[in-house]
Amino acid sequence: MDVKVAVLCDNTAGLFCKAEHGLAVLLEVDGRSFLWDCGQTDVAVYNAQVMGIDLRGVEGIGLSHGHMDHAGGLGRVLAVSGPRKIYMHPEALAPRYFVAGAAKMFVGVPMRLEALEAAGAGVEFTRGPVEVLPGVRLTGEVPRVTDFEGPEPNLFRDEGGELVPDSFIDDQALVVDTPEGAVVLTGCAHSGVVNILKYVLETSPRIRAVVGGTHLGMGAPLSKVEATMEFLDGLDCGKMIFNHCTGSVVMSRMVDRFPGRFIPGQTGLVLEV
Ligand SMILES: [Fe+2]
Ligand SMILES: [Fe+2]
Repeated sequence: MDVKVAVLCDNTAGLFCKAEHGLAVLLEVDGRSFLWDCGQTDVAVYNAQVMGIDLRGVEGIGLSHGHMDHAGGLGRVLAVSGPRKIYMHPEALAPRYFVAGAAKMFVGVPMRLEALEAAGAGVEFTRGPVEVLPGVRLTGEVPRVTDFEGPEPNLFRDEGGELVPDSFIDDQALVVDTPEGAVVLTGCAHSGVVNILKYVLETSPRIRAVVGGTHLGMGAPLSKVEATMEFLDGLDCGKMIFNHCTGSVVMSRMVDRFPGRFIPGQTGLVLEV
């Protein structure tokens, strides 16, 4: 199977592209396109134009989780692509906040369901695995099996007026099942990139490639960083294209530790994986 990824939105800008804190990756499988996340603003749409990618060819959209840096660009994408089916977990639209000291910022999906539907989204809520294109599936909820990937201290959701630590039950990955193993696309990997890969390995013989965020950026506990690096080191995986919330410090360590396998996934990158 021919599998290609194009990074439309990331924290780092490639040649003539824009960047923002966000993620959007176009997945192409045997000539059919599916969009994974939409970035925070109009950066994904802008970069698609620079990269010569026609978003009208996108057959559907998947949302990794309900954070604005992945879903804020949905309306702009739909304005270009036309009405499309959008897959997300039912909890993705929960009100979410980043809280640090006196600072409290809304970081959930900025459009409510009615506004999304008015913009052309055919929203399909799903908790479990679902096939979105032939051989391409969303994992649904990811079982938490590691002891080093847990809730993050500054991220909360509003439950009946009370802020509670966000469990990110909605966090999921996109998987292409190929004869050479699974190609895995993560969002922010709030459920843990190791948890995600272990879950995929329950049904796939190996990981052919992994693309996306790992949440190992500023503030990630060193124990989590080290345990994740150790796991990735032992993983039979052809390509690791990490970006977004992985953080520049960890990415520069990956360049040294995974030579020939790690590729920084900045905007403008188009790659067969
Ligand atoms: Fe993110
Ligand atoms: Fe996130």
